[in-house]
Amino acid sequence: MTAEVLVVGSANADLVVAADRRPGGGETVLGGDTRVLPGGKGANTAVAAARLGADVALVGAVGDDPHGRLLLDSLRSAGVRTELVRTVDRPTGAAYITVTPDGENSILVSPGANAALRPADIDPAGAKVVAVSMEVPLPTVEHAVTAAAAAGARVVLNLSPVTELAVTTLTTPTTLAGVDLLLVNEHEAALLLGAEDPANIDPAGLLDRGPRSAVVTLGARGALLVTEDGPLEVPAPRVEAVDTTGAGDAFAGALATALATALDTGTEQDHVVELRRAIEWAARVAALSVTRSGAQPSYPTADEVARWSPPDTGAMV
Ligand code: RIB
Ligand code: NA
Repeated sequence: MTAEVLVVGSANADLVVAADRRPGGGETVLGGDTRVLPGGKGANTAVAAARLGADVALVGAVGDDPHGRLLLDSLRSAGVRTELVRTVDRPTGAAYITVTPDGENSILVSPGANAALRPADIDPAGAKVVAVSMEVPLPTVEHAVTAAAAAGARVVLNLSPVTELAVTTLTTPTTLAGVDLLLVNEHEAALLLGAEDPANIDPAGLLDRGPRSAVVTLGARGALLVTEDGPLEVPAPRVEAVDTTGAGDAFAGALATALATALDTGTEQDHVVELRRAIEWAARVAALSVTRSGAQPSYPTADEVARWSPPDTGAMV
């Protein structure tokens, strides 16, 4: 089975509670009703790409339980192929998410079935783009990247959520050399660069870690594209944030879609021009998604993205 975009990553039930503020240690805070929504970085990326029109399959794992069925339903109704989502003898991954009135979230993830995703589950043959994220075992991430690169696919690695162990493992030996486009936020970039202060990094150094190009997402300030030509700022639309959960995954899914489409139509032009356009479009997709609640339920179709004009409220994403 060959899909144009193969996504390797987690599928979680998101258990979302709105609260005025997050509880500290030893503290109890009362919030709103629990909403159970389909999420997880891999499933989110796959759903985002499929809604934008890509031919997508997810390599993932869920449990034989209501959360697993919620995920499979959401994937299928977005048009994601699920033949490579295994049902395993662990509970479906769950993410306990608190959303505060500023649209910011904090997330505790219980990996469950995602921990059962193995290198042997991945066969990238025939895929144009392979998109990988980090809520699955590290050997699986490493194998996904190296096998996809060996098969000639373009690899998008979303280094989220990152740990020091992940940084050490992926840089020695340098798995990241198989990555076409590395996606990091400022915190992840700092960890990768061994920098103390995320506000004060030298983004060009990211390419020394192996990837052909990198994108540093800067929240409301847009993104920084890093290529052999140096860093280039790409602004993002300014919107009023309702829920930022999964915005990075929408961005990753949109980038994977844009890269697959460029390869498809043979319109691949100058590498930097192509990437800048892809990032501008992905930033619109992500901005639109933060104006609605939830992760997967908030992802737009390509038509919606084309019709959307940002309100320009001046509020921050
Ligand atoms: O990136 C957002 C996702 O992170 C959520 O959907 C949650 O499941 C966690 O994996
Ligand atoms: Na959203």
